[in-house]
Amino acid sequence: MFALVVLLVLSCLSQEVWSCSCSGPRHPQSVYCDSAIVIRTKFVGQKVSEKNRTRMQYQIKTTKVFKAPEGFEDVQYLYTATAESLCGYQHTSTNKSEEFVLAGHIIDGEVFINTCSYIAPWASLTYCQKRGFMQMYAKNCECTVRLHKVLIQW
Ligand SMILES: *[C@@H]1O[C@H](CO)[C@@H](O)[C@H](O)[C@H]1NC(C)=O
Ligand SMILES: *[C@@H]1O[C@H](CO)[C@@H](O)[C@H](O)[C@H]1NC(C)=O
Repeated sequence: MFALVVLLVLSCLSQEVWSCSCSGPRHPQSVYCDSAIVIRTKFVGQKVSEKNRTRMQYQIKTTKVFKAPEGFEDVQYLYTATAESLCGYQHTSTNKSEEFVLAGHIIDGEVFINTCSYIAPWASLTYCQKRGFMQMYAKNCECTVRLHKVLIQW
């Protein structure tokens, strides 16, 4: 039990590591707490970024902002590496009206996603997960609270 707690504390402290070995599925609660930006959005376009050819630029249309710092309420573009070896995210759905819940990180004023990012079709979430993103997760963002909840759940 103690080892588990230490592990959880460590994983709470360590921030995202730029690597393709994702650390397994994470609970949406911790995704919400750990991510700079969490939105529900549609992927409406994609092209290689003109400013930086190593980046893929996804054009999005956001329908709901769950969490975002000031100035990021209406993000138009997401970026990811074009190379899969550099954890580039490849969007497979061509349905431009399909909504996804997506968690990204912000670097130099731009929103980035990668293969380890939490990106899920909104329609695939359970009622509780949807409710969580809409209201509950934001209230439980203290790391310690989260630990208690995780341990109790187990
Ligand atoms: C291009 O993008 C990559 C990956 O995001 C970054 O590491 C690199 O520094 C960028 N290059 C320039 C010239 O901005
Ligand atoms: C695209 O997504 C929307 C919303 O989820 C859905 O209603 C529609 O049936 C989908 N269209 C196709 C062609 O899959």
